Amino acid sequence: MRQSLVVANWKMNGSLASNQALLDAIKQGCQDVSHVQISICPPAVYLAQVSQLLTGSAISWGAQNVSHEAGGAFTGEIAVSMLAELQCRYVIIGHSERRSLYAESDQVVAEKFARVRNAGLIPILCVGETLSERESNQTEAVVLRQLDAVLASEGIAGFHQAVIAYEPVWAIGTGKTASREQAQAVHAVIRQHLAKQDAAVAEKIQILYGGSVKANNATELFAMPDIDGGLIGGASLQAQEFLAICKAAR
Ligand code: 13P
Repeated sequence: MRQSLVVANWKMNGSLASNQALLDAIKQGCQDVSHVQISICPPAVYLAQVSQLLTGSAISWGAQNVSHEAGGAFTGEIAVSMLAELQCRYVIIGHSERRSLYAESDQVVAEKFARVRNAGLIPILCVGETLSERESNQTEAVVLRQLDAVLASEGIAGFHQAVIAYEPVWAIGTGKTASREQAQAVHAVIRQHLAKQDAAVAEKIQILYGGSVKANNATELFAMPDIDGGLIGGASLQAQEFLAICKAAR
């Protein structure tokens, strides 16, 4: 039985004061949701603050991105060893905003995935199609291409300690959510694809849904058999909304 995981992706939002208020409220409110793993991914400059505020709680934290290089002369980049020092548990890899706005290729995403795993952190690999790809019936091909780029370099063993997030690009920040049937169908395709190589890894891996998850649609999404939680953007910035989503997880 897979445990549910709900991850907050704060994106480029927050401040020292608002982070503290948000985390205080989440820590207070999450005491009766011990059946769900919760993680917070703030902007990197706030990881030290967030780690201090969450140490000793049941909530873990992670980063939104990492360099594919190990370290050195890469101005502005952050190495996975630095995230490890701050006890990050997760690193979001290949978010569609990174792929589309910062030109991250499948190859770079695969390199980042490897860096994260080799450092003992858990990658959250994001995959998902654009609206035009969905409308031209390419959803499955796109998602499997993104998955295969990592499988090709890491093999199925790379997914032993990893999380996948299916985030249809057209549902991110738009208020349009994939229906539970649409999401479940893609999650099942992902799990079946992994199962062809290793049934145990496929059965164990958590596959999260992301894209306009709110308190009022989380219950029906999380009830689907292959949806193991969510990667939450906008709604993770409001404590009560985020807590309601966490409580909706199985
Ligand atoms: P929204 O929940 O704001 O649609 O963002 C989803 C997302 O991109 C999480 O990574």
